[in-house]
Amino acid sequence: MRTAKLGDLEVARIGLGAMGMSHGYTGAGRDDAESIRTIHRALDLGVTLIDTAEIYGPFVNEELVGRAIKGRRDQVVLATKFGLVAHDGRGPWTRDSSPDNIRIAVEGSLRRLGTDHIDLYYQHRVDPQTPIEDTMGAMAGLVEQGKVRYVGLSEAWIDTIRRAHAVHPVTALQSEYSLWTRDQEQVLPVLRELGIGLVAYSPLGHGFLTGTLRTPEDVERLDDDDFRKNNPRFTGENFQRNLRIADQVQTVADQVGATPAQVALAWLLTKGGDIVPIPGTKRVSRVEENTAADAVELTAEQIATLDRLTPAEGGHHTEAQMQMIER
Ligand SMILES: NC(=O)c1ccc[n+]([C@@H]2O[C@H](COP(=O)([O-])OP(=O)(O)OC[C@H]3O[C@@H](n4cnc5c(N)ncnc54)[C@H](OP(=O)(O)O)[C@@H]3O)[C@@H](O)[C@H]2O)c1
Repeated sequence: MRTAKLGDLEVARIGLGAMGMSHGYTGAGRDDAESIRTIHRALDLGVTLIDTAEIYGPFVNEELVGRAIKGRRDQVVLATKFGLVAHDGRGPWTRDSSPDNIRIAVEGSLRRLGTDHIDLYYQHRVDPQTPIEDTMGAMAGLVEQGKVRYVGLSEAWIDTIRRAHAVHPVTALQSEYSLWTRDQEQVLPVLRELGIGLVAYSPLGHGFLTGTLRTPEDVERLDDDDFRKNNPRFTGENFQRNLRIADQVQTVADQVGATPAQVALAWLLTKGGDIVPIPGTKRVSRVEENTAADAVELTAEQIATLDRLTPAEGGHHTEAQMQMIER
């Protein structure tokens, strides 16, 4: 697989998101053996960047990844995140990027992942209660101690990115970027000015762009704790209207002789050698399909068609989730 550069960190240009193996998606946690085979297959195919977070589960996704990479740690660029679990008793889904919380969080992540260092450690969401300078100072301390190699931010906007980078180099921003979620294109010039890479999460539009959800009944059949059941793009009239986008991606896929998932990933790869999509799957067959997008070439006309896709109806997160995202 070809490589990409996130700051100074070189990775294979398609990564693997492990979240859905334990959290948020239908079937999460139901077949850990297949999830572990999926991570192994990804590594066999040349994937290096494996993405998890303390909040996924919480905790169990890191444990799963830790089991999967046992004996193969040196093949992995291991990325995890802190900042959505407050270890002072307030618990999960609380933003806390205070230095004290980070120092507790990192020890738990290292233990669950079965490693003595994290390659890329992200703040998961900006914490309005903690100046980013304090957070970055604590992360720089972890780098000095050798517990962390590179640091990143997630869903931070331009001002925070600049302030953070002034304290310690930010290697990557991890934010949602895909054919139907394009706002990161406003941040990209700043990332390039500062030499920061972009890790594109939910690059398949939470699976929607692959064309596997075609009817309201398909959404109904999802597990009750599958977050897509309440996502504005998957509900009501928005869902019906957004099907047009899936159809347009399918049309290009038919021209290319690839799958819609591969086209969605190949399009992201055309945007630069500093952008790394981390498609999420818990199935061997799909990690094979997604990783093969490395070899899919789009023509200038196909890229232009994809650039002009019908804009999505509905926010990419719920109102409550958007409250935690900087814009
Ligand atoms: N920083 C953040 O705040 C944040 C937020 C969300 C996600 N993430 C990270 O980004 C990663 C990827 O995002 P995501 O998982 O939310 O969304 P995604 O990659 O856009 O889509 C995942 C969904 O697509 C399905 N899928 C995967 N490959 C497919 C294929 N080839 N054909 C058909 N369906 C396919 C998966 O189902 P199966 O698993 O059943 O294959 C799953 O339902 C996560 O795993 C996580 O590590 C980070």
